[in-house]
Amino acid sequence: MNAEKKIQHTDFLVIGSGIAGLSFALKTAIQFPKARVVIVTKNEKNECNTKYAQGGIATVWDKTVDSFEQHIEDTLRAGDDICDEEVVKMVVKNAPARLQELINWGAQFDKLKDGSYSLGREGGHSQDRILHHKDITGAEIERALLEQVEQKENIDFYDFHYSIDLITEHQVKKKQIKRLEKITCFGAYVLDVKKNIVKTFSSKVTMLATGGNGQVYNTTTNPVIATGDGIAMAYRAKAEVSEVEFIQFHPTALFNPGEYPAFLISEAVRGEGAILRDFNGNRFMKKYDEREELASRDIVARAIDNELKMSGDPHVYLDCTHIAYDEFNKHFPNINEKCLSLGIDVRKDYIPVSPAQHYICGGVDVNKKAKTSIKNLYACGEVTRSGLHGANRLASNSLLEGIVFAHNAVENLSKRFHKINRPTNVPVWNDSGIVKNMEKILITHDRNEVKTIMSNYVGIVRSNERLLRAERRLKGLYEDNKRLYDHSELSVDLCELRNLITTAYLITQFSKNRKENKGGFYSADLV
Ligand code: FAD
Ligand code: SIN
Repeated sequence: MNAEKKIQHTDFLVIGSGIAGLSFALKTAIQFPKARVVIVTKNEKNECNTKYAQGGIATVWDKTVDSFEQHIEDTLRAGDDICDEEVVKMVVKNAPARLQELINWGAQFDKLKDGSYSLGREGGHSQDRILHHKDITGAEIERALLEQVEQKENIDFYDFHYSIDLITEHQVKKKQIKRLEKITCFGAYVLDVKKNIVKTFSSKVTMLATGGNGQVYNTTTNPVIATGDGIAMAYRAKAEVSEVEFIQFHPTALFNPGEYPAFLISEAVRGEGAILRDFNGNRFMKKYDEREELASRDIVARAIDNELKMSGDPHVYLDCTHIAYDEFNKHFPNINEKCLSLGIDVRKDYIPVSPAQHYICGGVDVNKKAKTSIKNLYACGEVTRSGLHGANRLASNSLLEGIVFAHNAVENLSKRFHKINRPTNVPVWNDSGIVKNMEKILITHDRNEVKTIMSNYVGIVRSNERLLRAERRLKGLYEDNKRLYDHSELSVDLCELRNLITTAYLITQFSKNRKENKGGFYSADLV
C-alpha cells in the first residue's frame, strides 16, 4: 500500500455523507465561506443509512394539537428513563427550526389537500408528528442536501475515500495514549479506494458522522456500509464511548430469506392501523402492552421474538387488508411495490415480517455541542451517544438528532474556530512493513463469524452464558484479525472487519456490565 507523500491541509474534515455529515458540511461552508471543507465518504456519495429512512422526521409542527411537552415525554418514555432530559428538551425544542431549514434547502414533505403538512404516527408517539416524503423520506432529504452541498465552492467532496484512523498525539508524538488523557484530533488517514493509496488529511476540526454498525448482525435493515467504523476509530483514538449495548431491533422487517439487508416495512404502516397477527391469524400485542402495535419498538420486537420462540414459526404477519388501498399506496408506494414484486397484494395478503437489527442507540459520547472527549473532534448522528435516545430510540428521532447536533456543532465552532491552529508535524501514513497477502476468503469467513456470534448470543434476548461465549469467540477473532491486519495489504474489507470486531466486542462488554434490563437491552438472567 502506497502513501501519498503530500499532506492535504483543510480547515474542516467531515467523515461521512449522511444527514449528519452533509448538514454539518453545508452549514459550515455557509458559516465560514473562506474556510475549506473536505467531505470523505467510503462509497457513493449518497450511500448511507439516511438514504433508506422511510417513516420520516419527528417534530412538533402543529402546536394546536401537539406540544413540546408531549414529544419530550414520549422520547423519555421510549428511552426507558435513561435519556438525558436536558438533551431531550433541547432537541425537541430545536426540531421545528431545523425542519424549516431542511425545507428551505429544498427537501419536500407530503402535504394534505389544504396545504398543511401530512403528519404520520409511529410507535411510542402520542400524537401524529412525523413529517415524511411518501415512504422514502431519507432519500428525499439526502437528495436535497447533496444538491446544496454540490453548489458550495468551498466544499471538496471525495467519494470512495475510506477513513482508516483518526490522527492524534499517538501518531504526531509517536506515543502511547491513555484513555482520559488530554487528546487532540489532527485529522485522519484516508484510503483512496480507486487509486489504492493512503492520503493524510490534516485538519483543524474533524467531524465524525459515520453512522451505525448494523452489519455486526446477520439480519439488519442497514446497508453494507454500516460497519461501525466511526465508533471503532474513536475508540482506538481513546475517545469516550458508551451505551452501545442498547441495540434497537425493528419489529417489522420483511421476512424474505436471502434478501440482504432486510427490507423495512415502516412503523408508519402500523401508524396507519396495520395489525400484527400470528400464523393462526390471532392478534397478540395486547398481551404485551396496552398500546398494542404502537408500543415502542423494543417492546414490539421483544413481543414478536417471544411469539416466534413459543410457536417455532419463522415470522409473524402484518395485516393491512383493512387499510384503504388508495391511501396505502399513496403513503407507501415503495413498500407496496416491493410487496407486489413478491406476489403480496396487501388488499388480501398479510405481509410476513420479523425483527431485524436497525439502530445503535449508544456510541461516541458527545455533549450538547456535539463535542467528543477528544479536542477538535466533533461527532453527530448515529455514531454518537448524545443522551437523546437512552435505552431505546423513539421512532423518527434519529434523522432529527443528526440535524440538531450538526447545527449545534457549527454554533459552537462559530465561537472557537478562529482560535484553532493549523496542526503541525502530522506524519504521512507509514507504509512500511512486510506484506504477505493472506487469502481474502479469510476476511469473508471472519465477517460471517462476527455476524453469527452477535446474532446468536448478543441479540434481542441475552444471558450471562451467551455473553461469555460471544466474548470468548470475539477475542479469538480479534487475534486472527490482528495477524491479518499486520500481514496483509490494507483494504476496505480488512479495515471494516477490524471495526466490526471492535464494535461487536464493545457491545458484548457493555452488555456484560449492564445490571438492569432497560429498553433495547434485555438479559434473561436479570428478569
Ligand atoms: P448515515 O446516514 O449512515 O451516514 C454515514 C456516512 O458515513 C455514510 O456516507 C458512510 O458511507 C460514511 N462512512 C462510514 N464509515 C466511513 C469511513 N470509514 N470512511 C468514510 N466514510 C464513512 N431514522 C429516522 O429518524 N426516521 C426514519 O424514518 C428512519 N428510517 C430508517 C429506515 C432504515 C431502513 C434504516 C436503515 C434506518 C432508518 N432510520 C430512520 C435511522 C436513520 O436513517 C439513521 O440513523 C440516520 O440516517 C443516520 O444518519 P447519519 O448521517 O448519522 O449516518
Ligand atoms: C420506520 O420507518 O419504521 C423507521 C423509522 C425509524 O427508524 O425511526
